[in-house]
Amino acid sequence: MAAGAAQGGEVVLETDRLVLRPWRVSEAAIRRELWLERDPRVPPHRRIDADGHPTLAEVEEAIRRSTASPVALLAVERKGVGEAIGYCGLTERRQEAREPELAFELLRRCWGQGYATEASWAVLDWARSSGHERLWASVWDWNTASRRVLAKLGFTETASEETIFGTNLVTTLRL
Ligand SMILES: CC(C)(COP(=O)(O)OP(=O)(O)OC[C@H]1O[C@@H](n2cnc3c(N)ncnc32)[C@H](O)[C@@H]1OP(=O)(O)O)[C@@H](O)C(=O)NCCC(=O)NCCS
Repeated sequence: MAAGAAQGGEVVLETDRLVLRPWRVSEAAIRRELWLERDPRVPPHRRIDADGHPTLAEVEEAIRRSTASPVALLAVERKGVGEAIGYCGLTERRQEAREPELAFELLRRCWGQGYATEASWAVLDWARSSGHERLWASVWDWNTASRRVLAKLGFTETASEETIFGTNLVTTLRL
């Protein structure tokens, strides 16, 4: 598996089976599908609300705005298929602004094939080569699949936070 490089200012990463690259506005419906599929235990502000927000237009606008960010949630695409199946990448962690957080989410129909782990390895390589020394990841205690992905990558639990939505585990990885 090999991580690729920034091409023309855009981050494009490559693995054996996947390409990770910026989202396209035309893929807003896929990104909204991820919202629609979310587990009911995910906090309400991360799910489509009763009025249908975020709407397709709002997701399109979010994709337009995200292109300028130095950290990014990249669209994950299967080679030879050509359409996003979810995202994997880095987000800003508020408390430790210089140490980003790994995040990933895939359409349910693509779960269980090792894609999240494979995409994450490429993101870890990219983070390391960008000069980051440590990454964070937070995960709900009930999220067995995500916890397993993080364990396979080498993340270890450093704290556990009780929130009104449940127990959130904080994990870190030295790069
Ligand atoms: C988390 C997520 C990205 C994993 O994607 P994926 O491509 O299926 O992950 P992988 O196939 O790389 O690895 C999943 C691992 O979890 C294991 N797993 C999945 N569901 C499981 C369950 N209910 N119980 C035990 N293990 C489980 C799989 O067996 C696999 O481990 P293995 O390789 O040792 O067999 C996907 O489930 C998802 O999008 N979930 C919703 C969004 C989310 O939770 N994001 C993370 C927020 S912290």
